[in-house]
Amino acid sequence: MNIFVTGASGWIGSAVTDELLANGYSVTGLARSDASAAALEAKGVTAHRGSLDNPASLAVAAEAADAVIHLAFNHDFDHYDVAGRTERTVVSAMLEALEGSDKAFLFASGAAGATPGRAATEDDPLPAHGPDSMRGGAENLALSYADNGVRPVALRFPIVHGRDGDPGFVAYLAQVARKQGVSGYIGDGSSRWASVDRRDAARAVRLALEKAPAGFRVHAVAEEGIPTREIAEALGKRLDLPVRSISPDDAPAHFGWMAMMFGLDGATSAEITRKTLGWDPTGPTLMEDIAVGAYDA
Ligand SMILES: NC(=O)c1ccc[n+]([C@@H]2O[C@H](COP(=O)([O-])OP(=O)(O)OC[C@H]3O[C@@H](n4cnc5c(N)ncnc54)[C@H](OP(=O)(O)O)[C@@H]3O)[C@@H](O)[C@H]2O)c1
Repeated sequence: MNIFVTGASGWIGSAVTDELLANGYSVTGLARSDASAAALEAKGVTAHRGSLDNPASLAVAAEAADAVIHLAFNHDFDHYDVAGRTERTVVSAMLEALEGSDKAFLFASGAAGATPGRAATEDDPLPAHGPDSMRGGAENLALSYADNGVRPVALRFPIVHGRDGDPGFVAYLAQVARKQGVSGYIGDGSSRWASVDRRDAARAVRLALEKAPAGFRVHAVAEEGIPTREIAEALGKRLDLPVRSISPDDAPAHFGWMAMMFGLDGATSAEITRKTLGWDPTGPTLMEDIAVGAYDA
């Protein structure tokens, strides 16, 4: 079975690709550069040259594959609206190519969002609709294709951490801490981040490919909610920096684009995902990764 993976050279996509190859799938990976194509080919993946800016190039590969796992995203947080509109265009192009095929279309989506007083569940829809909403409203658009002969599955990732050079959110927080000379948290630090080890996330994606019904929202979450104060304390301890509360008013200047996200309570349950997919995360916790120096550099 050949799976077209966009973002196959990325943080999550490279682990998903390894997981697929280890389980007998063949992978065609989107590559926008020679370097990404070479990295994919070195591990036995067929590189498909194309770009998010050329949706037709993705539609051709989607149609040729047995299933699609869409993980590419332009993480330019200063122009997040542009990235969202691109996401919607690309997702639309691939879904139109798959219409009536009954093939699986798995795609990365945003976290479920804040649900005050309780953890978000797989049954909570995203309030994002239309091209100008978060991630272009792509989750709701894609899930609607369950009625059009596609098996769409939303992959909602929390903070995906790991020891092999995570370029993501925790690395950014560590960078801010080093630059500011203090490991900060916002307010009383009670807002929580859900998290998962990168390889556990990859296994959830592979199990979703095999088992998730059309319209399912996967919560690839191992730790439901870690208080952000504890994350700041762990980074401060490891980086030998003082730990301090940053007021919500000062947070944008201190944390940059991360301020909004670090202050949001993103507690997320994965109970339905675990039962439906038979997924049991076993990898290191975020605190364990910080403690062994995964975010030192
Ligand atoms: N990491 C997390 O903690 C996290 C949490 C929640 C949601 N997510 C979502 O999960 C998905 C994967 O995240 P990630 O952390 O693996 O991201 P990443 O490491 O930044 O990887 C992004 C991938 O997208 C590709 N890409 C970016 N712009 C492209 C373009 N214009 N054309 C073609 N390919 C392009 C990159 O290719 P190159 O290798 O060539 O740069 C790379 O393979 C994203 O949708 C992300 O928003 C991630």
